[in-house]
Amino acid sequence: MKEQHLLRVIEPTEVTGAWVMREGEKLLSFSGNDYLGLSQDKTVLAAAEAALHEYGAGAGASRLVTGSHPLYATLEKQLAKMKGTEAACVFGSGYLANIGLIAAIAGKDDLILADRLVHACMIDGIKLSGARFQRFKHNDLKDLERLLKDYRKQYKECFILTETVFSMDGDLALLKKIQALAEKYNATTITDDAHGLGIIENEVKADIQMGTLSKAAGSYGGYVCASKAVIDYLKTTARTLMFSTALPPSVVGASVAALKMMAEDKNRAKKALFNAKIFTKAMGLPEAKSAIVPLIIGDAEIALAISRKLQNEKFLVSAIRPPTVPEGTARLRFTFSALHSDTQVKNLAKTLRDILA
Ligand SMILES: Cc1ncc(COP(=O)(O)O)c(C=O)c1O
Repeated sequence: MKEQHLLRVIEPTEVTGAWVMREGEKLLSFSGNDYLGLSQDKTVLAAAEAALHEYGAGAGASRLVTGSHPLYATLEKQLAKMKGTEAACVFGSGYLANIGLIAAIAGKDDLILADRLVHACMIDGIKLSGARFQRFKHNDLKDLERLLKDYRKQYKECFILTETVFSMDGDLALLKKIQALAEKYNATTITDDAHGLGIIENEVKADIQMGTLSKAAGSYGGYVCASKAVIDYLKTTARTLMFSTALPPSVVGASVAALKMMAEDKNRAKKALFNAKIFTKAMGLPEAKSAIVPLIIGDAEIALAISRKLQNEKFLVSAIRPPTVPEGTARLRFTFSALHSDTQVKNLAKTLRDILA
């Protein structure tokens, strides 16, 4: 892999707010997913510290073995309220939530139809489930309906999987129409809200909503929000919940504080979105729909070269290459946070325009 320039390295990087230190250089990051800047917020840190001292550094065992820590009840209540569901269940990470959920809920007699761009952990969950799997073209409802017409009747249950905000494209799922199709064909919808939580409020809710606390919530852990029946079922069958140690109490404490802040203060979300829109306007791109803006370059080497040039100008913007994105669509992925100032975003756009000129 090294000979073919495919070996990836993980760079030592220190983060302070929107800034990172890498290779002795201070760079302004437009690459993280800490959209609201909560990972370093004083209230969130204080809550994590309090939980650490009160309850210890680690959980000690799986929640099914030693029970649910009291902070979980608060967090799961907050999540269910935010998502408008009867119940919620917190997992070790978003990745663990997706593979645990999908493998528990679908089996070989079932059909899963997933948007072509869903995240790797949904795909891994689908593979583990053993269900019949078909992808539909990205956000293409005609293609989804074609698959429903062709296959739905042959299977017991049908699940339609999509992301609310697509992680590498920043666009939004057409949830209202997907939900209508699901009702027409007696299917269950599952959304991955990893990049939507705290940023975009979905008026139409999927039947099962999963997500992560590692991005806008600035903490760690995954969750599934659904009916009480689904959540009770997961607590007995989701293997990534049953056979993995619970989150450290400090992490759960941080999430509780972060979700409270999200619910009380919408200004941070507005600022992150506003920053993304300043950037798309300055670059002449279609208006940002979320805090993620891709600039599709196509060729992986060129995308890497632009990322290096931006780094020379003290900006950290990762080049995203296949297999993370489809072949021929290597890109720069810009993410905007409430921590960025208007001037920083405008400077980024100006520098990028100069590089591309
Ligand atoms: C769309 C999507 N789903 C799930 C995950 C996994 O979440 P976590 O990082 O909490 O494992 C990620 C990101 O990492 C993601 O981008």
